[in-house]
Amino acid sequence: MAVGVFDSGLGGLTVLDAVTRRLPDVPFVYFGDNAHAPYGVRDAEDVYRLTTAGVTRLFEAGCDLVILACNTASAAALRRMQEGWIPEGKRVLGVFVPLIEALTERQWGDNSPPREVAVKHVALFATPATVASRAFQRELAFRAIGVDVEAQPCGGVVDAIEAGDEMLAEALVRSHVEALKRRMPHPQAAILGCTHYPLMEQTFQDALGADVSVYSQANLVAESLADYLARRPEMIGPGTERMFLTTGDPAAVSDKATQFLRRRIEFRAA
Ligand code: DGL
Repeated sequence: MAVGVFDSGLGGLTVLDAVTRRLPDVPFVYFGDNAHAPYGVRDAEDVYRLTTAGVTRLFEAGCDLVILACNTASAAALRRMQEGWIPEGKRVLGVFVPLIEALTERQWGDNSPPREVAVKHVALFATPATVASRAFQRELAFRAIGVDVEAQPCGGVVDAIEAGDEMLAEALVRSHVEALKRRMPHPQAAILGCTHYPLMEQTFQDALGADVSVYSQANLVAESLADYLARRPEMIGPGTERMFLTTGDPAAVSDKATQFLRRRIEFRAA
C-alpha cells in the first residue's frame, strides 16, 4: 500500500510531512522533479508534460492514488489530466480543493450550488503560473458567490527559499504583501497557494496583520486525504516501500531536503 506525493521539487515536503504525521501507517512515495524546478515560471503545456511524466513514475512505484502537492501542477495540469489522461483505477487529486472547502466552510465532497460565505475579500499568494491559470478563482466560483479575489504572483520567493536565503525570501514576501495591499487594502483571508510558503507563514502573517486569517495548505490536505482514504481504502495502492525519488542529483537533493525539513532524508534517482 502506497500513496504518491508529486511536487516540482522540495516544496511538497511540507505536504509530505503533514500527511505522514496524520497517516503514519501509509507508506508515501515522494517524487520531486528537481531537474525541472521551478514550475512556477513555465507555461501550462510544459507543466502538463512534466507532471504526467512524474505521476507515471509514481504509478510504476505502486501508487494508485497520487496527490499533486504542487499548486502550479494542480492549477495548470490537473484538470486536463482528469479529463482523459488518468488510467482506469488510478486517481490524481490536487491541493486547491481542500483549501477552498475550508475557506467556504464546506464538508468534503459537498457539491451543492455555490452560496454566500462569510469571507468576502481574499488575497491569493502564488507562483506566476498558478496566478495566470485562474484555477483558484474557477474552483472557488463552483462553491461560493460574491467573493472578491486579488491574486499576487510572488516572483522570486521559491528561488530564495530553495537557495536558503531567508533574508531575501522575507524581503520579497513583504514587498509582495505590500503590492497586494495597494490593490486590496483590507483582505479578510489570505491563501498561501504554493507549497513553499508555509515556511514563510509567520512573515506573511506579520506583513498582513493579525486580523487576517492565513490559510496554509499542508494540514488541510492531510485532513482531506485521511477523510478520502477512510471512504476509499482500496485506493491505497499495492506499493509497500517509502521512497523519495528525484529527477535531480540525489546527493545534492538529499542535502537540501534535510536542510529544508531539518531531518535526514535520502533521495534516490527516479
Ligand atoms: N511547488 C510549487 C507550487 O506549489 C512551487 C515551486 C515551483 O515553482 O516549482 O506552486
